[in-house]
Amino acid sequence: MKKLKNLFDNNRLWAERTKQNDPDFFATLSKQQNPEYLWIGCSDSRVPANEIVDLLPGELFVHRNVANIVVHTDHNCLSVMQYAVEVLKVKHIMVVGHYGCGGVQAVLNDAKFGLIDNWLRHVGDIKEKHMTQLNAVPEEKRLDALIELNVIEQVRNVCRTNIVQEAWLRGQNLTVHGWVYGLVNGHLHDLESVVTCTDEMADTYKSAAQRVFDRNIK
Ligand code: CO
Repeated sequence: MKKLKNLFDNNRLWAERTKQNDPDFFATLSKQQNPEYLWIGCSDSRVPANEIVDLLPGELFVHRNVANIVVHTDHNCLSVMQYAVEVLKVKHIMVVGHYGCGGVQAVLNDAKFGLIDNWLRHVGDIKEKHMTQLNAVPEEKRLDALIELNVIEQVRNVCRTNIVQEAWLRGQNLTVHGWVYGLVNGHLHDLESVVTCTDEMADTYKSAAQRVFDRNIK
């Protein structure tokens, strides 16, 4: 098992199955990719982007990191976004969080894991920003609320990048979405944090964040 033979066996079987379904699949795909979507999600192994939305290779451009965070100085994420928007000309960017996110939970519990605590500090900032309202959320719903808020804040971060700002200035058709995935039932939830231009940013952010508290504070 040193060479992970099982994974290579799986790979060959998958390639064979895929080719049986569509004999030209790999030949066509090897020439170009033309995805309409950029998925920015969590690295969690239970949230595989393509499978969740049942899209084939070539249909989804993907960036994943722990807790689906978009940081203005993260050249990795920004490079993915820039290439997706300016070269591939994706029409949609979705920030996808998930319930039960260990990264967000670590922040809520003040758990310490080492280097990653610095990365998760960005979620810590969100927690502190909304502390008063989060404290009004019943304890059993607080993790869900912070997970949803994190997505809404990251949607705003995506919108604020010069990549998206300039795309909108050019009149490029580009919509940013905020979703949350449920591990327990496999369902995606739309947080209705949909932004299609700069003018919509402030109102969308405010109403989406308000809905998080309306839903979770009873
Ligand atoms: Co996660």
